Amino acid sequence: MSFRSRMKSIPLQVIPKGNWAGQRPTYQDAQPALIAAALRRAEGRPSGNWYVFGASTDVRANRPFGTRVGGLDIVAWRDQQRRLHVGPAACPHLGADLATGKVECGGLICPWHGLRLEGGREFGWKPLPAFDDGVLVWVRLDRVGGEPPLDAPVVPARPSGPRLAAVTRLDGVCEPSDIIANRLDPWHGAWFHPYSFTQLEVLSAPAVDADEDADKFLVAVTFRMGRLGVPVIAEFTAPEPRTIVMRIVDGEGAGSVVETHATPMGPGRDGRPRTAVIEAVVAQSDRTGFHHSLRVAPLITPFMRLAATRLWRDDLAYAERLYALREATSG
Ligand code: FES
Ligand SMILES: [Fe+2]
Repeated sequence: MSFRSRMKSIPLQVIPKGNWAGQRPTYQDAQPALIAAALRRAEGRPSGNWYVFGASTDVRANRPFGTRVGGLDIVAWRDQQRRLHVGPAACPHLGADLATGKVECGGLICPWHGLRLEGGREFGWKPLPAFDDGVLVWVRLDRVGGEPPLDAPVVPARPSGPRLAAVTRLDGVCEPSDIIANRLDPWHGAWFHPYSFTQLEVLSAPAVDADEDADKFLVAVTFRMGRLGVPVIAEFTAPEPRTIVMRIVDGEGAGSVVETHATPMGPGRDGRPRTAVIEAVVAQSDRTGFHHSLRVAPLITPFMRLAATRLWRDDLAYAERLYALREATSG
């Protein structure tokens, strides 16, 4: 199918020229108490101490991957069966950073004196429980989480058919709760991100005392692509304390999800907290054009990332401001 005929089959609408200041203000609907209550409910759900630390594709069998979670430097790699191994990044011998080592025949070799780890308990090094859900990789840190551990993380339901996944990461100066609070305010969408969203209407929001079944936001919104727009209905839920899922429930790409995972990294050099925002777009479409686009996935994936960058930077700025204000007032 040609690009032109494919574009025709997608329900694009021409967006009427509107003026930003002429939109209906949403501050009366975006009640701080309602957002705070939704955040508290999210934080009350079990996570089993699991933390997303990257994209599944970040961790390879030919080199180690290093990052920081909950103040702990960790290293991850895959063995020859592509099994995921994760553990502390400090070498048990003299402390070299194992993320700067090499992976050879499934083992991780320390760059300082060649100590080789196969992924089990050895030389005083202890692996951490790890989980690969096919899109993201998780590590379990019981000392950081302090909750009763679960055998596996709470992975959101994802499209099962042909799909396209893209993962982006941004780090900010805030706590995970600031990221989650930002996502639990759907009312800022068309005001704060007019370049991405228009004609946004919050169809329903959970009451302050909402029970589990009613704990979701339903939003009608048009994704903007220049002068054209794709109208959808999206649902926002918080399946665990550090995850927000936006699922397209009606319209183009129904079933697709955008997952926002907020992972605490620990304090930076300035003592202020750092949080990694790891965002996974898992797109699904039943259109034939989409199967075609799967074949050009390596081409399209960077576009999916690029398109989202400004939106996510602005949301991170919102979250960082929530943190800065809280710090300023708690003095
Ligand atoms: S520090 Fe790793 S082998 Fe010596
Ligand atoms: Fe936003």
